[in-house]
Amino acid sequence: MTGADTAADLAARRGADDAVVYQPAEDSGLLAEAAVEVARGRVLEVGTGSGWVAAKVAAERDLDVVGSDLNPHAARAARERGVEGVVADLCAPFRENAFDAVCFNPPYLPTDPDNEWDDWMEHALSGGESGRELIEPFLADVGRVLAPGGVVLLLVSSLTGYDEVLALVDEAGFDHEAVVEESFPFETLTVLALRRA
Ligand SMILES: C[S@@+](CC[C@H](N)C(=O)[O-])C[C@H]1O[C@@H](n2cnc3c(N)ncnc32)[C@H](O)[C@@H]1O
Repeated sequence: MTGADTAADLAARRGADDAVVYQPAEDSGLLAEAAVEVARGRVLEVGTGSGWVAAKVAAERDLDVVGSDLNPHAARAARERGVEGVVADLCAPFRENAFDAVCFNPPYLPTDPDNEWDDWMEHALSGGESGRELIEPFLADVGRVLAPGGVVLLLVSSLTGYDEVLALVDEAGFDHEAVVEESFPFETLTVLALRRA
């Protein structure tokens, strides 16, 4: 916000951001429930979107939470909720052992490459052809930024292939346990807590 911004400017910008930022839904609610229960210490929410999950964890647990997203409109939305919002590709810019808890509700819908639509909402929803194109690099790197004894909270949809995600979890050297799970007409959502094996 600059000194020249009027309330109308701010409202217009917020409306524009909402149109290109994933708004809280059932998956966000489940991740927040698990994170409020399990997170501790310094927390990173990767792919923070509106910042709603990060802000809820910060408020309900009085924890220090960073919300990161590839989408700069999302990083700004998170900052407007009072969260430290930064632009980042997955865990890339963060240093080793930086966080005690890392949460991620990834883009997970399997998407036919011919039907990719190439905008910020696609980045929020599409997990590529397998549905796991963001989950794979996330799991391969998240252990680097996780402090000893830390926990990863990962939301998994049955649409993404639960067993295939568990194989990636195992390959990355984590044990897993389901913290919350809920079934909807078209999918079952589970939040897994991952800890170094
Ligand atoms: C399903 S939305 C979840 C948003 C929010 N965490 C929630 O639960 O409401 C996935 C988010 O991941 C972000 N995202 C996609 N690719 C990313 C990447 N490579 N690095 C960081 N964030 C990414 C999207 O912009 C989007 O905000």
